Amino acid sequence: MTTYTETFDRRGHLYNSAMATFPNARDEELRQLLNRLDPKPAEVIVDAPAGGGFVAEAVAAAGAEVICIEPSVPFGKPLAARFKTHVAPIWNMPLADDSVDKLARLAGLHHLGHAELQGSFNEAFRVLRPGGLIAVADVRADTPTAAFLNGPVDTWTETGHQGHFFKPGGLQAQLEAAGFQHTTETLESFFWTLPDTTSLCGFVHNLFGLVILPSAQTEALLRQGPGIHQDATGAHFPWALAYATARKPTGTPAS
Ligand SMILES: C[S@@+](CC[C@H](N)C(=O)[O-])C[C@H]1O[C@@H](n2cnc3c(N)ncnc32)[C@H](O)[C@@H]1O
Repeated sequence: MTTYTETFDRRGHLYNSAMATFPNARDEELRQLLNRLDPKPAEVIVDAPAGGGFVAEAVAAAGAEVICIEPSVPFGKPLAARFKTHVAPIWNMPLADDSVDKLARLAGLHHLGHAELQGSFNEAFRVLRPGGLIAVADVRADTPTAAFLNGPVDTWTETGHQGHFFKPGGLQAQLEAAGFQHTTETLESFFWTLPDTTSLCGFVHNLFGLVILPSAQTEALLRQGPGIHQDATGAHFPWALAYATARKPTGTPAS
């Protein structure tokens, strides 16, 4: 069986190549997270898992001090030159108790086992200062996004894709189990936007490492689902994530 770290060891460079070629394609997905995270100058903000630094770049641009946590060495290769970076699992971060203001987590949870998942939220609670904020986004079960990942992405990648997606309220429930309060959770639907259909197909093919799929067949596959929308502003790929936020209660330092 391929572990998820091995998956990103093998296809992280393709993901990073897609993101470097079209850095604005996932802007709306990112904006939804940043609206909730509200990064401010001088705040210490953890991006975990950071991948190639998509969230970290935006948080740094807001003037915050970024710490990246990424378990895959090849995937996280671009990080070390730009940010303070730790190669570590997100359920065991080499950070002190109560030491960070905020923590961001985008699209990095749906391959964790149950214990790792809850451990990752417990660990976020430990490192956040009292009053600190977590903003997280991941795939909601029974959505076209979930069907695409565990369908075509599973079929056309060397490593397969069997994600464990989140039922409505699932992220909130895990945050509350870790001790967080003032939780919110909303499903947001948006588009990845590329200049044209050829660019969109190349982006998706690379991002997911669809190496078994002949490139010429990508457009037909995407049109089957989730679909491609075209207008004067470009080609748009429907995507959806559940976004959740929570705060560590004040007056509760980690034990
Ligand atoms: C789709 S990428 C997202 C990266 C980045 N946050 C972004 O939005 O571009 C998934 C991330 O989850 C991490 N990850 C998730 N589950 C993992 C597991 N079980 N073991 C190791 N890494 C895992 C990967 O290393 C990778 O950074």
